[in-house]
This record gives sequence, C-alpha cells and structure tokens, in this order.
Amino acid sequence: MSLLTAWQFLIELGHEVANPLQPELHRPVPLNGKRILINGAAGGVGHFAVQIAKMEGAYVIAVASTKHEAFLRGLGADEFIDYKKTAPEDVVRDVDVVLDTLGGPTTSRFLQILKRGGHLFPVFLGFSDAEEAAKRGIIVSTTQVRSNGPQLAKLGNLLEAGTLRVAIDSTFPLAEAKQAHERAALGHTQGKIALAVL
Ligand SMILES: NC(=O)c1ccc[n+]([C@@H]2O[C@H](COP(=O)([O-])OP(=O)(O)OC[C@H]3O[C@@H](n4cnc5c(N)ncnc54)[C@H](OP(=O)(O)O)[C@@H]3O)[C@@H](O)[C@H]2O)c1
Repeated sequence: MSLLTAWQFLIELGHEVANPLQPELHRPVPLNGKRILINGAAGGVGHFAVQIAKMEGAYVIAVASTKHEAFLRGLGADEFIDYKKTAPEDVVRDVDVVLDTLGGPTTSRFLQILKRGGHLFPVFLGFSDAEEAAKRGIIVSTTQVRSNGPQLAKLGNLLEAGTLRVAIDSTFPLAEAKQAHERAALGHTQGKIALAVL
C-alpha cells in the first residue's frame, strides 16, 4: 500500500472516488525537471516517493533524520536535509512540489518554500490553511489510496526489474506480529516492517 500511495499521489490516481474534504479529484503533476521536496522521506511512503520522483526525472530534496542520509542518497536523493539540525523552510526555496508524509499542523510551513503555482500534497486529510495557500497561488491536494490491480501489476514489474526497491526496516515471524507492531509504534523506521510467513 505504501508504494501504491506514493504512485497515486505522484503518477496516476487509482480511482475516481471523490474526497469529501476536497471538491476536485487529486491530480498528480509531471515531475520531469521539477524540484520536489519529500518530508518523511525514509518512511514507508517516503522512500518509494523518492525513487519514483527520481525515476520521473525530478530533482529530489529528502527530509529525514541523520541516520537515513546514506540510505536516501543511495535511493537517488539529490539533497538531504536533517530535520533535527535544520528546518527545511529555513533553507529551501522555489520548489515545485512538496509531498509531506508527516502531516499535522506543521504542513503549512511548506507553503513558503513552494513557487507560485506549485503543489503541496499532504498524505493525510485535514489541511487547515487553505486561505494562505490560495493567497500564494499554491494548489493543495490529497487523496486516499485505493487498491488497483493494473497499477499493482505495473509496480510489480518495476520492483522485479530493480527500478524500484523495497527497504526492509526489520522482519518478524508472523507469530511475533505483536512485536512488529511495537517496532512500528516506536516510529523512525527506514522503509517497511515485514512479517515472514513460512
Ligand atoms: N492518504 C493515504 O491514502 C495514505 C496511505 C498510506 C499512508 N498514509 C499516511 O501517511 C503517513 C506516512 O506513512 P508511512 O507508512 O510512510 O509512515 P512511516 O513508515 O512510519 O514513516 C514515517 C517517517 O517519518 C519520519 N519522521 C518522523 N518525524 C519526522 C519529522 N519531524 N520530520 C520529517 N520526518 C519525520 C520518520 O523518519 P525519521 O527516523 O527520519 O524521523 C519515518 O521514517 C501516515 O500518517 C499514514 O497514515 C496515508
């Protein structure tokens, strides 16, 4: 679902189901030659988004904590910002797209780093600063991921070809699903947590 989420935000919507909190359907935008900032870049959705944006020819600025720098540069990130040392909004300007996988009340700070006409994609519902976004000419858009067979087939091919890869944070036997949830609850994962079914 994380890969499908990144895909449906950035490449093609997986459904035509209206979002009750947004009048228009989400529309991904072409990324070739664009500057995109991905917040929460080391997480499940984020690490796929970095790879997809690179695959599409974007310049990628990845935001995560220190321990993920080499990982994200290895996935193709052109710039890395350690949010524990530097606030992205203090050092970045003129971005075309922001994908924020973290969300919450801090998403509005990304309005100031976007170009007029840029796109802010919060990977959650409930963005609360629509007035400021309109004043700055920024399009804020979100969606809810939906399963989509043809897209999964396409993504399966990209994984098989090695164009995209899944980072595994940790693996637990199915019988230790509780511990897997405990690991997830600690946060700061790198990629996905896997359950092994033998
Ligand atoms: N709209 C949809 O359909 C949809 C679908 C899937 C998921 N979601 C939502 O998307 C969000 C992300 O999901 P996920 O699976 O990618 O989560 P995740 O795997 O838990 O990733 C979260 C990442 O956020 C990073 N992070 C934590 N604090 C941060 C900060 N202050 N600044 C920047 N990065 C920070 C963590 O890395 P560090 O170690 O660097 O802190 C971690 O790698 C969740 O809220 C989920 O509910 C929405």
